[in-house]
Amino acid sequence: MNNDQLGVVYLVGAGPGDPELLTVKGQKLLSKCHALVYDALVPKEILQLVNDECRCIFVGKRRGHHSTPQLKTNALLLELVKEYEIVVRLKGGDPFIFGRGGEEASYLKQNGISVQVVPGITSGIAAPAYFGIPLTHRLASSSITFVTGHEGIDKRRPSVNWEALVQAGNTLVIYMGVHNLSYIVSKLLLAGSPPHTPAAVIQQATVIGQRCLKTKLDKLVEDVDSYKFISPSIVIIGESIDFQVEECAPPPAAVTMPVDF
Ligand SMILES: C[S@@+](CC[C@H](N)C(=O)[O-])C[C@H]1O[C@@H](n2cnc3c(N)ncnc32)[C@H](O)[C@@H]1O
Repeated sequence: MNNDQLGVVYLVGAGPGDPELLTVKGQKLLSKCHALVYDALVPKEILQLVNDECRCIFVGKRRGHHSTPQLKTNALLLELVKEYEIVVRLKGGDPFIFGRGGEEASYLKQNGISVQVVPGITSGIAAPAYFGIPLTHRLASSSITFVTGHEGIDKRRPSVNWEALVQAGNTLVIYMGVHNLSYIVSKLLLAGSPPHTPAAVIQQATVIGQRCLKTKLDKLVEDVDSYKFISPSIVIIGESIDFQVEECAPPPAAVTMPVDF
């Protein structure tokens, strides 16, 4: 088979959890794909959108469980696209935000495979929006930084420069931060963040169990511990949290998603 006869891999963002927040394009692809490779943060209601003949493969990474190594996932996608015309690689949120979508796309392109990316609503935007927290506000914040709270040791770029982030004065949106929170908060305080900077943590946004805690930076670790916030959670730090529109109560969630992955 030459490459012209090979299928296409669609890297699709599933959104933050609620299936109604999946894009129309993503939904159409799910209904017609021949093979689906999906992650831990995709609720079963979204998986049910595929047709009966679709081959579905889980490659999720969950805390405390064995995960599929990234190289194996890359190889699996390559193998599938030789066999199936439409392969969907479904990832929680947006595939290119802390989702290794870039790595998978590069690997496939290097192997002569066509790749198309279908963006998804990233949790760092969906979670605060659901709870009425604006990430920018004319009176409080003109910029946002999406940052990982969990850095890989095999990274090429230097680790997160928390000092620079404090100096920039952005709203910080921290992914994968709850397990590393005391380190992150200590770095921020050391770098000069005022202890009373507003902070919020949102767990399981848009799905059953969603909840939001508002506090201050110097109380964040203690509060997250006492209220037992776990993954998946988004942590937000910045003055714009004070402009929360409390009346924007999140719509009741109807679907569940695996937690503490
Ligand atoms: C590996 S990253 C994947 C991010 C994903 N690609 C995105 O765009 O949302 C996983 C992290 O995303 C965040 N996350 C994903 N879904 C979430 C949700 N529904 N509520 C809160 N945080 C979520 C958590 O910080 C979690 O640890």
